Amino acid sequence: MSTPSIQVDSFWLPKASSTIAPSIDSAYYLVYWVSLFFFLLIVGLMVYSAIRFRRRREDQVGRRVRQSLALELAWTIIPGIMLMVLFAVGVTGFVDSRVAPGNALEVQVTAQMYSWNFTYPNGTTSAELVVPQGRPVKLVMSSTDTIHSFWVPEFRIKQDVVPGMYTSIWFEAPEVMKAALLCTEYCGVGHSTMTTTVNVMDAAKFKTWLDNGGTEVELSPVEAGKKIFAERGCGGCHSTNGTRMVGPSMKGLWGHTAEIEGGGSAKVDENYIRESLLTPGAKVVKGYPNVMPTFQGLLKDKDIDAVIAYLKTVE
Ligand code: CUA
Repeated sequence: MSTPSIQVDSFWLPKASSTIAPSIDSAYYLVYWVSLFFFLLIVGLMVYSAIRFRRRREDQVGRRVRQSLALELAWTIIPGIMLMVLFAVGVTGFVDSRVAPGNALEVQVTAQMYSWNFTYPNGTTSAELVVPQGRPVKLVMSSTDTIHSFWVPEFRIKQDVVPGMYTSIWFEAPEVMKAALLCTEYCGVGHSTMTTTVNVMDAAKFKTWLDNGGTEVELSPVEAGKKIFAERGCGGCHSTNGTRMVGPSMKGLWGHTAEIEGGGSAKVDENYIRESLLTPGAKVVKGYPNVMPTFQGLLKDKDIDAVIAYLKTVE
């Protein structure tokens, strides 16, 4: 897989790599340390009291405790003020993370079992989220099938992606880096493969990438096909080692004649692969469910060529 691993630079949280990440982390740690302080204080006093004031003789009875107005006011007002502080920190952080700056680059995100697709204002599409360094990026997201959830741990942003409506989130990455992008809502058997990369480029490199329609480096067709297979989540349903999953394995597929659901057979060649990517329901292999989503509009002809070239090599 082309997904980079998450960079962990402390025991607690992964590297904070977006402009809002530090404020989200400080809100988190504020709640964390306040909770830890009160946990130790309360449990400490409880344990101390249980030992210090334990019953020592059979006939011993407890002393009657009278109420203390000062104590009751203190343990109401002090936590009340603390909760207001936490609320203020939380609500400002929430608003900051939801409202994108006006100059943000807008990218459309489409989630589909089990891949991500990113569409840029000039029509460029990509299976990797490529963004310029130091500029806010606003994501407008929707799903073609079920609920997915967009998550970049190093940016501290997470948002559900839902069919039939748009959700939105934004971030700004100040450094050139690669970060892992995960689906964090269980969406089916291939959920764990629904990962890709956020590739933060310097502004000039990003412009070149965008102007060239999203091509960064020239890969050989087999390498490009392998990358597409991984990035588009094909591996969520199709193994490459012969294991039976939701869909047929790709191992030894090429040139094989498959029995088709509803009668007849089909030889697995260029046209069969192309048809299966664009109109998956046309010729479903016998014994498998007709559940594959279409890649119409997501894969260009050259991408389909690359997938074919790669599948020929899976023996
Ligand atoms: Cu998409 Cu989990």
